[in-house]
Amino acid sequence: TILFTHRPCKVLVLCLGLLPPLSIKIFSVLIRLVSPLQLELSNTAVLHQMRRDQVTDTCRANSATSRKRRVLTPNDLKHLVVDEDHELIYCYVPKVACTNWKRLMMVLTGRGKYSDPMEIPANEAHVSANLKTLNQYSIPEINHRLKSYMKFLFVREPFERLVSAYRNKFTQKYNISFHKRYGTKIIKRQRKNATQEALRKGDDVKFEEFVAYLIDPHTQREEPFNEHWQTVYSLCHPCHIHYDLVGKYETLEEDSNYVLQLAGVGSYLKFPTYAKSTRTTDEMTTEFFQNISSEHQTQLYEVYKLDFLMFNYSVPSYLKLE
Ligand SMILES: *[C@@H]1O[C@H](CO)[C@@H](O)[C@H](O)[C@H]1NC(C)=O
Ligand SMILES: *[C@@H]1O[C@H](CO)[C@@H](O)[C@H](O)[C@H]1NC(C)=O
Ligand SMILES: *[C@@H]1O[C@H](CO)[C@@H](O)[C@H](O)[C@H]1NC(C)=O
Ligand SMILES: *[C@@H]1O[C@H](CO)[C@@H](O)[C@H](O)[C@H]1NC(C)=O
Repeated sequence: TILFTHRPCKVLVLCLGLLPPLSIKIFSVLIRLVSPLQLELSNTAVLHQMRRDQVTDTCRANSATSRKRRVLTPNDLKHLVVDEDHELIYCYVPKVACTNWKRLMMVLTGRGKYSDPMEIPANEAHVSANLKTLNQYSIPEINHRLKSYMKFLFVREPFERLVSAYRNKFTQKYNISFHKRYGTKIIKRQRKNATQEALRKGDDVKFEEFVAYLIDPHTQREEPFNEHWQTVYSLCHPCHIHYDLVGKYETLEEDSNYVLQLAGVGSYLKFPTYAKSTRTTDEMTTEFFQNISSEHQTQLYEVYKLDFLMFNYSVPSYLKLE
């Protein structure tokens, strides 16, 4: 199995072979829970076991065909937010409620500084100094935390997440930095006869152009995808790190509150409920994909395929694959 490395431990390389296939901690937490909830919780526990198995099976099925590394370096752990007080590790995935989960992590690690997650402004939740990530620890400290902490992440239907990223970064006028950094590059490469203004501002990227940029082999050869459209697979390394819990955007509140309950803070901390009016939906995603050729749809599906398989999302019915 790719989950184990048989090489001896080297400095600056994590020895993933040391990690147990399943966290023991989650079960000890479950045992402590009171009986009236037991039945319901065991159904939930079964569901989460199935999700974990799906990840493991997908990793196994794809290990032979891919040339993936067997070890991680601290640099791969920049998305893993650590809460030492409650022994939690959260891998954040942009466009999957990560602002609210970062707020919760700030409450959890704040030692009383905050009580209500929503009192923390969104921009403050994204200041990297406000949360500690796993890459900031020494190798033994990293291995210890990976072994004993409860690790979780939240995932979302890959194309819905992609449309959400596109809408947020390219259809809103306020974020000039994204237009300059990525928009200008996308237009230069993907638009024939682009005007000087479009090339300079990069603020009117079409979804078709964004897709063409994502499937262009040059793009990932040049630099990794931006985190807003990078695959969950590449951000969180689920084939190397055994997540105890895979939460889903589709059942966000339920899964989030389950994590909080397992962490022992469910009695006083709940996932914030918020208006989802501007949320990217399946219907919206269908609309956006209507303009994409079946050739490009097929290539895009290949880019995100592991995320689809690993997190059990079926091939969207609106796709016309070749
Ligand atoms: C995958 O999804 C299907 C339907 O969408 C569901 O019936 C099945 O139980 C899921 N499997 C896992 C492992 O979550
Ligand atoms: C704007 O884009 C930058 C990256 O270029 C990002 O760090 C920042 O969070 C974005 N701001 C908003 C409001 O989305
Ligand atoms: C680009 O401009 C040239 C010359 O004006 C024109 O012949 C051509 O059709 C244009 N191409 C596109 C894709 O608009
Ligand atoms: C699809 O293309 C048409 C024609 O170019 C355009 O008017 C429409 O806005 C596009 N739809 C989306 C969702 O991009």
